[in-house]
Amino acid sequence: MKILKAGIIGCGAFARAQHLPNCRENPNLQVVWACDIDIDKAQAVCQDFSIPNATDNPEKIFQDETVEVVILATSHHAHLELTAQAAAAGKHIMCEKPMALKLDDALEIVRIVQRHKIKFCVDHNRRCAPAMKALKKSWLDFRRNPQHQPWRFYEMERDQFRDEQNPVFLVRIQDESSSHRVIHKDPVYGGGAIIGESTHWYDLISWFFENDEPVNIQAWGSCIFNHGVNIEFRSGALGTLLFNTGGTFDYPKELYEITWNGALFRNECFLENQIYGIPGLEHSYYPLQHDVKH
Ligand SMILES: NC(=O)c1ccc[n+]([C@@H]2O[C@H](COP(=O)([O-])OP(=O)(O)OC[C@H]3O[C@@H](n4cnc5c(N)ncnc54)[C@H](O)[C@@H]3O)[C@@H](O)[C@H]2O)c1
Repeated sequence: MKILKAGIIGCGAFARAQHLPNCRENPNLQVVWACDIDIDKAQAVCQDFSIPNATDNPEKIFQDETVEVVILATSHHAHLELTAQAAAAGKHIMCEKPMALKLDDALEIVRIVQRHKIKFCVDHNRRCAPAMKALKKSWLDFRRNPQHQPWRFYEMERDQFRDEQNPVFLVRIQDESSSHRVIHKDPVYGGGAIIGESTHWYDLISWFFENDEPVNIQAWGSCIFNHGVNIEFRSGALGTLLFNTGGTFDYPKELYEITWNGALFRNECFLENQIYGIPGLEHSYYPLQHDVKH
């Protein structure tokens, strides 16, 4: 099988913790360039992950004709410029979230990707979790063919209200503030948590409500830590995110609940799916995932 050659730009904490160990474990991928504006960081990951070339100049990667894909793991503000350069050189791109800090920049990235006909992926990893894929499948199966518990209470004397046809997706994140670094709070480089962090959950809710589109979004609270976001979709479906960092990693960080038509689809931090209101569906459990095999 062909080995895909990649370059990584941004050799900070997440590149070290996730991208580079994952790439090292993938027999179909070889990282041949590591780039960081801080050359010491690029050289250090080259040493630690056996990458042949270090640079502080991304052009070196774009000019290397053997490189097909570029991983953008810089701080967020650099995505647009690096995407423009990489795409112009015909490289496919795996871009860290958030894709951009401003709507105009995000739209410009979409135009660049379309113009150069490259593949572009944003690392919204929640939708890739096996538990989430399974939960979505159960939800879509039920949406197409609702099966209720035999004991379900039916109000027979009225037509359904419109609200009863619309699903509601609740996301509750209890995070630990000590895990957040200052750079992600910086309004220029980090965009704050509402953009920089919660993009994961806008993506997840939109992925569940496929073929729908958000028409009304309201956020409240602080873009540093604690905030909430309401999303109303064209169909009338609702998404609500409650994000706080006053919690503890002693308890599962993420909780997801989708309710509709007498059923509840619940996921606890990608480890456990619980489905209520549907006959025959058991709870299911998913192993704690290490991206990298040890
Ligand atoms: N998908 C996820 O679940 C997830 C989790 C954590 C972080 N992230 C994302 O990963 C990205 C990096 O986060 P981090 O925690 O590693 O930050 P970090 O600050 O540790 O690393 C960023 C690195 O990029 C370098 N850099 C900045 N601008 C550059 C440029 N123009 N060219 C080359 N290098 C440049 C910096 O010197 C630094 O070494 C962020 O966008 C963050 O949102 C994603």
